[in-house]
Amino acid sequence: MSKILVIDDELSMREFLKILLEKEGYGAAVAANADAALDALEEDNFDLIISDIKMPGLSGLDFLEQIRSKGITIPVILITAYASPEDAVLAMKGGAYDYITKPFNVDEIKQIIHSALIGTRELSKPQSADSFQNIIGESPAMLKIFDLIKRISPTHANILIQGESGTGKELIARAIHNLSKAAAHQFVPIICNAIPESLFESEMFGHIKGTFTGAITDKKGLFVEANNGSVFLDEVGELRPLIQTKLLRVIQEREFKPVGGAHRVKVNVRIITATNRDLEQEVISGHFREDLFYRLAVVPIRIPPLRERKGDVPLLVDHFLKKYSKLFDKKINALSSYAMEVLMKYDFPGNVRELENIIERGVALESSNIILPESLAISAHKRAESSPATFHGSDDELFDIGMENAVVNLEKNMIAKALSKTGNSKMKAAEILKISFRSLRYKIKKYGIKCADLP
Ligand SMILES: Nc1ncnc2c1ncn2[C@@H]1O[C@H](COP(=O)(O)OP(=O)(O)OP(=O)(O)O)[C@@H](O)[C@H]1O
Ligand SMILES: [Mg+2]
Repeated sequence: MSKILVIDDELSMREFLKILLEKEGYGAAVAANADAALDALEEDNFDLIISDIKMPGLSGLDFLEQIRSKGITIPVILITAYASPEDAVLAMKGGAYDYITKPFNVDEIKQIIHSALIGTRELSKPQSADSFQNIIGESPAMLKIFDLIKRISPTHANILIQGESGTGKELIARAIHNLSKAAAHQFVPIICNAIPESLFESEMFGHIKGTFTGAITDKKGLFVEANNGSVFLDEVGELRPLIQTKLLRVIQEREFKPVGGAHRVKVNVRIITATNRDLEQEVISGHFREDLFYRLAVVPIRIPPLRERKGDVPLLVDHFLKKYSKLFDKKINALSSYAMEVLMKYDFPGNVRELENIIERGVALESSNIILPESLAISAHKRAESSPATFHGSDDELFDIGMENAVVNLEKNMIAKALSKTGNSKMKAAEILKISFRSLRYKIKKYGIKCADLP
């Protein structure tokens, strides 16, 4: 029998919860404040704690922090007032399993308790220092995000991921699912703007055969498919108002009626959402329901654009070089130092996805074993001012560069290629280039070509 500890300063609430829990077949103990609860924890073993947040003395949040700092990992469900979504956010950030809002919905409490008790998965997997669940990054911003993901994944909190296109929102959504108790169940992605409004409800919540033209069989819907797992609502900023209202109701009641159905279906799903819009702004402008926003963004994660974390570029380059060299069966393991410089100065409007495409093309195009600037699909005018350009642009771009720069550039590239082709032998490189060894040595020095960068 699972034992649950209830902490609340109000006698009526303690009694209500105790009766409810015992009726459900759990063992229940009560404490009137956090101190009494700490004593109870010393004396007995509990499987779950349900605690009010607002109490005289130590608050529920302080209590949570204290037991976590003592290494106590029992799941905690916090009770918040309906009017304070901020408390809900703090609860989840503090590592609560979930929260329930006053006034109570008894079915909701039962559901949350049940899922909190279904055993806690072992989470720690060995990880290399610079990647986390296939997400590459070592910038302070990304390390913070990794840390947040670790803390919030095991909770049941709904999560909103915001970031520009190509910043890795889906990657992060999948990581959260994989690290959660829902991992053994489905991760069901739904691209909100890809489904016509008229079909949305039946896609999400299913329908009964014959309800509308085309409904030839019963359909379960994606929420049922994701039961006990996670639903990933991508581009959630695009949801039409009617669907926003329906979704809000499903989140609050944890059940719904399929289109044309008479019976309610219960589901337990974790909702992860993503958007490249500024959803707070959409709330202010009246395009997105505020109450839904708070339900979805219990924990918000904001991924900064790549140009604000350039420190991650070299690591990402390395990762994608390995990936595409393997895929294309090539032996390319580095960028020339100038090519790297070009990348570091670029501002990646398409973020990591664009960088990945650039490296993929680079690996495909490059015939030597090191990527040179002209194999990077960044057009000359997009590069920052100080970068000398290549011969791949238009005539206008070429004349912008000027002949001397263009010649310098060609020389640099030929030298780098010759060196890589000859395994860094200056003697052989000079031969291929049909210049003297001394002249080559001079140019290498003048142009700052770093042989150490070459394989
Ligand atoms: N930190 C990262 N490490 C490794 N790969 C990444 C990282 N971030 C993004 N990617 C890769 O970049 C591509 C785009 O990522 P993803 O689809 O998650 O972006 P998104 O934010 O969902 O973009 P969109 O808003 O356009 O849907 C994917 O191929 C993904 O694997
Ligand atoms: Mg995406």
